Amino acid sequence: MLKAEPLTGHIGAEIVGVDLSEPLTNTLGAALRQALARYLVLFFRDQTLDLAAQKRITAVFGPLMRIPYVEPSPQDPDVIAVLKEADERDIGVFGGDWHSDFSFLERPPAGSVLYAVEVPPYGGDTIWSNQARAYDTLPDDLKALVDSRRAVHSGAPYGKAHAPEDPQALSRSIKMRRGDPEADRETLHPAVRRHPESGRKALFVNPIYTIRLEGMSEAESRPLLDRLYRHATRPDFTCRVRWAPRSLAIWDNRMTLHYAINDYDGHRRLMYRTTFAGERPG
Ligand code: SIN
Repeated sequence: MLKAEPLTGHIGAEIVGVDLSEPLTNTLGAALRQALARYLVLFFRDQTLDLAAQKRITAVFGPLMRIPYVEPSPQDPDVIAVLKEADERDIGVFGGDWHSDFSFLERPPAGSVLYAVEVPPYGGDTIWSNQARAYDTLPDDLKALVDSRRAVHSGAPYGKAHAPEDPQALSRSIKMRRGDPEADRETLHPAVRRHPESGRKALFVNPIYTIRLEGMSEAESRPLLDRLYRHATRPDFTCRVRWAPRSLAIWDNRMTLHYAINDYDGHRRLMYRTTFAGERPG
């Protein structure tokens, strides 16, 4: 049966004794969903998977979902190839800031699956931060601020109104559609959301996509959001994963933020990423 070895006291577990290339039984699927609700990030080593197998695993957690603004892999429209080539230096990477995925959508993804194909000899780790723990430990004034308040999200990097003035050049190996006014549409979500299965409450603000708090201007919101982000990304709430070829991570996008560390110029990194759908945050 499934054995989970915690990576830290608050988030992440390595799952051992499971071969994900084998057909997934209902019992194993239920155990994996339970483990994800508990640890928020599951990590597996030495898995030999093709894209069809990765999609089967993804579907255990929710319906496969295609994400907007990012060109999928030519091999499969449900897959994004997260790639940086060895000759791409001093540029940004996909996911290279603290964020949860696509929170500006009415129904942001419930989670994602990332499979390592080629990794640098050092660096290129990914970090996740537990936003349930962040919520539980918020100072009283910040808790009072976010409880019962909504935050306003927009697809800032892909739109016009909130596009960064001087965006860092991004890896040519991942194609994004930018400057689309449709991405400026504002979506309001509770700043604290509840996990539909575990019932845990988590802070739900996003350094990339949250533009302000409801009832406040951007200028009024800025210092408060900055305080929330500083707290949300405290190292105490995080786990950091060192990739090897054929490692796989599954994460809960409702209860975590994540960050792809861009510290491996001169080396190639290729990961396949799939996404599973979620509900309207509540
Ligand atoms: C992402 O999905 O944000 C990218 C994660 C990574 O490349 O480590």
